[in-house]
Amino acid sequence: MSETSIAIIGTGNVGGALGARLAKAGYAVRFGARAGKDPGELLARAGNGASAHPPAEAVAGAEVVILAVPGKVAVAAATGLGSLEGKVLVDCTNPVGWDGGPVWSPPPEGSNSAALAAALPGARVVKAFNTFGAEFHADPSLPGGPADVQIAGDDDAARQQVAAIAERSGFTPVDAGPLRNAALLESLAVLWIHLATVGGRGRNAAFRLISRG
Ligand SMILES: NC(=O)c1ccc[n+]([C@@H]2O[C@H](COP(=O)([O-])OP(=O)(O)OC[C@H]3O[C@@H](n4cnc5c(N)ncnc54)[C@H](OP(=O)(O)O)[C@@H]3O)[C@@H](O)[C@H]2O)c1
Repeated sequence: MSETSIAIIGTGNVGGALGARLAKAGYAVRFGARAGKDPGELLARAGNGASAHPPAEAVAGAEVVILAVPGKVAVAAATGLGSLEGKVLVDCTNPVGWDGGPVWSPPPEGSNSAALAAALPGARVVKAFNTFGAEFHADPSLPGGPADVQIAGDDDAARQQVAAIAERSGFTPVDAGPLRNAALLESLAVLWIHLATVGGRGRNAAFRLISRG
């Protein structure tokens, strides 16, 4: 059986680290590198057959698309990728401003994920991989178990597919319910950024849900 192919749009801190992690987990990773970018370092880091393409070509050959671009350009970047009809669109972005600390600054639709769903009605939008720093996309390990990936989306099968990808790549998936809860996950990211920066705790912590039975 061929592996799920995953396009990574945005090849910076998050896209580069997560792409490498997914490639090592056995997924067919297709980086969407913008013109003028030399993908050599990215491909060397990821190995395992990862490839680089112009963004729309990376997406055309993929079942799952991971969006890891700056929050403000998420919709513009995603709508420029050609058809996303039927594809799972994993939104890692956070709309965050700064006023002495991070401030959640969502678009009128209520969250970046809701804005993506409105702009791309054929895409199966899922919020995930947005609530910890990029160091954890590279390596989710923590004492006692890996970092949680909270997953929100209205398409059950898409949410489950993202959970399976997260689990196979070494994260702990946590089903966070419908896409309206993407707003909560974006807010959780703001809390993480607050704690990591002005809160003084640094970037070496991540959220885990721990049950007592
Ligand atoms: N950094 C973190 O720890 C972290 C953690 C969780 C979530 N996030 C969220 O993840 C997203 C990415 O963060 P990052 O730190 O990885 O950012 P980054 O390092 O600045 O990388 C951004 C990537 O997006 C690309 N890009 C920028 N503008 C674009 C556009 N208009 N169209 C298409 N691609 C564009 C850039 O391409 P070029 O290289 O060609 O400029 C770059 O590859 C953000 O929304 C952020 O809030 C970040």
